[in-house]
Formats: sequence, structure tokens, C-alpha cells
Amino acid sequence: MKYDALLEKAKKAKENAYVPYSNFRVGAALLCKNGDVYTGCNVENAAYGPTCCAERVAVFKAVSNGNKEFEAIAVTSDSDDVTYPCGVCRQVLAEFALDMDVISSNKDLENEVLKVEELLPRAFTGKEME
Ligand code: THU
Repeated sequence: MKYDALLEKAKKAKENAYVPYSNFRVGAALLCKNGDVYTGCNVENAAYGPTCCAERVAVFKAVSNGNKEFEAIAVTSDSDDVTYPCGVCRQVLAEFALDMDVISSNKDLENEVLKVEELLPRAFTGKEME
């Protein structure tokens, strides 16, 4: 499948997940339009609220390196069920690319590909403020 290599990178990124509270490891791999890939894992915190999801870690790594043109993001976890990005991560993805592919997968990398705009219909994008 087109995104097999990206899914493998997400699986590898999952190994670094810092999850002492949930024990739920998540990995993400973000493909930029120029071919660069930024990976992320979830990083939890004793105060819970500061926890950052794998997807946002990957997005923030990309943006902080000057890259905001996104093609696709692959997400995986240790679950038998497909893991989809949480609502906060959908909003963060929508900020940059409503038409990017989101490849949500389970631990065996079985997956479903959806656009951000399918995962977050009628998104608040900020255009309303113009
Ligand atoms: N988590 C992610 O990293 N990405 C998701 O798409 C779903 C949730 C993390 C946050 C927290 O560390 C753990 O999974 C349980 O919610």
C-alpha cells in the first residue's frame, strides 16, 4: 500500500512513547510535501493535562523546523482496534491541511485512510475571523 513505509515509521516511533500513566503507546509519522518525514510519540505527564499526543509531537516538530506543507500522517498504537487522532489533534491537523491523508491503524498496521476534513467536518479554521 502507498503508505506502508510511513506506517512502519509510525510503528518505530511508538517505541519511544513515554506512557507511565496510560501505558498506551502511540506513534505517528508525518509526511511533508517535500518528502521529509517527522515522527512523534505520545509524551505523558504526572499532571495529565500537559500530555501531548504522538500526532501533535510530529506536527510541532515539522512546524518548528520550518515545514508546514503536509501530505499525510500515519498513526498507530498497540491496540487491536484502529486508533484515530483525538479531537485536539484533528483540530491541529486542520490548521495546516484539511485535505491531507490520515492513515489510522491498529497494532498490525491494518488501516483506514481518511482526509482531515472527513475526520473533522465543518472545522473551525480561522477563516471565519477574516
Ligand atoms: N493519544 C495519542 O497520542 N494519540 C491519539 O490519537 C490518541 C491518544 C495518547 C494520549 C495519551 O498519552 C494516551 O494516548 C491515552 O489517551
